[in-house]
Amino acid sequence: MTIKEIHLITFSPTHTSRQVGEAIVRGLDIKEVNVIDLTRPCDIQQELPADALAVITVPVYGGHIAPLALKRMQDIRANHTPAVIGVVYGNRAYEHALQELDSFVSALGFQVIAGGTFIGEHSYSTSQYPIAAGRPDEDDLAYAELFGRKVRTKIENATDREHLYGVDVKRIQRPHQPFFALLRFLRRVMKFRKSGGVIPRTPQTDADLCTHCGACVKHCPTEAIALGDECHTNADLCIRCCACVKGCPQKARTFDTPFSAMLSECFQRPKENRIIL
Ligand SMILES: Cc1cc2nc3c(=O)[nH]c(=O)nc-3n(C[C@H](O)[C@H](O)[C@H](O)COP(=O)(O)O)c2cc1C
Ligand code: SF4
Ligand code: SF4
Repeated sequence: MTIKEIHLITFSPTHTSRQVGEAIVRGLDIKEVNVIDLTRPCDIQQELPADALAVITVPVYGGHIAPLALKRMQDIRANHTPAVIGVVYGNRAYEHALQELDSFVSALGFQVIAGGTFIGEHSYSTSQYPIAAGRPDEDDLAYAELFGRKVRTKIENATDREHLYGVDVKRIQRPHQPFFALLRFLRRVMKFRKSGGVIPRTPQTDADLCTHCGACVKHCPTEAIALGDECHTNADLCIRCCACVKGCPQKARTFDTPFSAMLSECFQRPKENRIIL
């Protein structure tokens, strides 16, 4: 069977999920591509047809799918539309996020025919405390593109829609996680909690460096920063995605969380991307 069009659905404050989604789409090599970007405030109410294919890539926050991604996806409907799903995480763990995404999009009417777990630079990565810095790199994107090509072959080999089978994402192989690194991380988190340490609720802005260019306002997915008042962040809206930190050309914004050091030290070994189809 053939697919006429692709809908790339993504939520990606620091662009790694979007890059992975775009690489999968390149591998699928279908000319008609519609991008549904849920990163900025939006109200998408769309029904996708059965002869389309959705590629859905979203980040992992705290072992779950970023809640705002699900919220902004909730009014999309599918008509038994096949979907390729991918979760992107910062080299710690994705826990149950892939299953969660599978259940969520299945309830919207999609049929998941392939899934993947991919590594992206951690939102809390800094030059002092790098965590999966620079990922997805060239090899990661080539892997995602190859995944897209494999999905295309799966679709072409199906004689008709009835024979394009779903996949059980629970059966995906998990990446190797060294036990002692995990233990060290859990101990450090417990020690931090016991010491009464506080995690900042928002990034901070250095007023001496800020030129009020407004880039952070443009990058923020929740309108937590107002134009002209860039040194202030609305803590009730901020989801700590670090889009403003990574998108500030003056490096005026920083998010000083103790998790940067903990994650950098305990999850140094690069994890592998995984796919199932
Ligand atoms: C609030 C928050 C929680 C996160 N939780 C996790 C996590 O549980 N495991 C992990 O490996 N990475 C975690 N990350 C890192 C992101 O999953 C990772 O950086 C991802 O590539 C970001 O996607 P984006 O570039 O599309 O925004 C978290 C990031 C944020 C901002
Ligand atoms: S992006 Fe940086 S320099 Fe520009 S307004 Fe925001 S904090 Fe200021
Ligand atoms: S202000 Fe908060 S929500 Fe907005 S981009 Fe920065 S970290 Fe993300």
